[in-house]
Amino acid sequence: MRDNEAAAFTATAVVTGGNRGIGLAVASQLLHAGVRVVLVARDPGRGEQARARLDAGWRAQSARGTGDTSGAGARAGGDGARAGGDAELPRVGLVVGDLSDVAGVRATAAAVLDACPTLEILIHNAGIWPAARTLNADGLEQAFATNHLAPFLLNHLLQERLATSRARVVQVSAGLYVKARIDLDRTPRGEDFHPIRTYATTKACNLALVALFARRWQDAGTGIRINAVHPGVIRTGLGDRRGPLGLLLKAAKRFWTPVEQAAPPVTRLALDAEAGADAAPVVSGGPGLDAATGRYFEIDRETPLAPPLDDTELARRLWVQAAELTGVRDDPSAYPAAM
Ligand SMILES: NC(=O)c1ccc[n+]([C@@H]2O[C@H](COP(=O)([O-])OP(=O)(O)OC[C@H]3O[C@@H](n4cnc5c(N)ncnc54)[C@H](OP(=O)(O)O)[C@@H]3O)[C@@H](O)[C@H]2O)c1
Repeated sequence: MRDNEAAAFTATAVVTGGNRGIGLAVASQLLHAGVRVVLVARDPGRGEQARARLDAGWRAQSARGTGDTSGAGARAGGDGARAGGDAELPRVGLVVGDLSDVAGVRATAAAVLDACPTLEILIHNAGIWPAARTLNADGLEQAFATNHLAPFLLNHLLQERLATSRARVVQVSAGLYVKARIDLDRTPRGEDFHPIRTYATTKACNLALVALFARRWQDAGTGIRINAVHPGVIRTGLGDRRGPLGLLLKAAKRFWTPVEQAAPPVTRLALDAEAGADAAPVVSGGPGLDAATGRYFEIDRETPLAPPLDDTELARRLWVQAAELTGVRDDPSAYPAAM
């Protein structure tokens, strides 16, 4: 048995887009809190590089005997979370999956189910801020598909496993959603594409459905909790582009928050309040968050949704449209009302 496979863990976390940026920082923090981490990355090489880097960091910490390598300090999601590890499962796993079209999301979900017998934490982090309109294999604009439809479809495809594990789902959102202009007819195919606004609009479409998932899962007694968080304005590769706007962005990013600081607002929604007591200094769930669901946080402050997301009818229509576009079979009479 390899030593990284031997140590016990109490929870498994899947982090989409975990190979760099905020996803990598979140994955690292969860790992060091005693959680087993499975990265979802679209590029096998970049994914493996990140997986190996996390694994090496975790092994080094184990060797120093610091941090919580037993997993005892990290409780997450699952009241049903296991007290011990599964020796066959690597402590840091990788699923190669592209979330930019429906077939890719379906294949990714199948691979996640294979890799994760239990799934206590799901972090929807993968996202793009495209400079130009590009359509995917389904004829849909790529940011609309990746930022909005992928988490919607993953939530459906993984629902049963999430429920068995009484999971916590965290949607990495963006405060820029307030700049959205959602056009249900034109946004899906990017007919209203704008190099800045499309990002905000697709993040808004996605955020609009978080409260609906929360209500649906609560009403069905699944035990799954879902919350969304804007992690701050963080220095990552997001939105990097050529041209004058790219240069401007590059200059501005020098003053943005370092990526490590983006992880705690995300991980605190995934871990129980007492988690990480042994894994100080940074990882622990926020007090009072254990039962939270359907909420939106600006970094660590709960914030009511502003227009256009105060419109519950818009959210319902987005849900119906997302179900149609992803081929999710849902009883229309069961479409959830807002929280
Ligand atoms: N940075 C900020 O200031 C900020 C603020 C608010 C919210 N956010 C949100 O935070 C999340 C992470 O952003 P970031 O700043 O860390 O950006 P980033 O550095 O550009 O990382 C984005 C991640 O998503 C992955 N990804 C993109 N498209 C994918 C696809 N089709 N399938 C699978 N993975 C895909 C990327 O993979 P590759 O390496 O293969 O490209 C990368 O791992 C996003 O949801 C973003 O909207 C960021």
